[in-house]
Amino acid sequence: MTQLIMVVNGPNLGRLGVREPDVYGHQDLAELRRLCTQWGGELGVDVDVRQTDDEAEMIGWMHEAVDDNTPVVMNPAAFTHYSYGLADAAHMVTDAGLPLMEVHISNPSARDAFRKHSVISPVATGTITGLGFFGYRLALEAVAHLLES
Ligand code: DQA
Repeated sequence: MTQLIMVVNGPNLGRLGVREPDVYGHQDLAELRRLCTQWGGELGVDVDVRQTDDEAEMIGWMHEAVDDNTPVVMNPAAFTHYSYGLADAAHMVTDAGLPLMEVHISNPSARDAFRKHSVISPVATGTITGLGFFGYRLALEAVAHLLES
């Protein structure tokens, strides 16, 4: 069976393409989904790209990842900076021995003060920031590499 990777995106990322295009680019979520599917195909994995504005839903997806043994690529968006609930859920994923890569399209450290702190980074396997959509490709590659080794 082909390995599945869950690619989860947090609040306001459904507005990619229209939201601050100078920061997040002109490509929308549908394009991100298409690219991740293409990159997954190149890496020999299936990807399931999701987006929610709902913290509880995103936490539920982490429980699902643990129960189904599914590695995660996560852009927690604004949850990055304050959601201890999501951090605890992400911790359960890595505690289960599953890779969880944190991705940010922009470089939050170079932006507003409140973006400089991530509550997800301490529990993530690794973090990729500032590379646009390409960061998701690197994160998928990292997960595929970790699963091989
Ligand atoms: C983001 C950075 C966050 O600070 C912000 O709240 C987002 C997107 C990024 O991808 O660069 O919504 O995670």
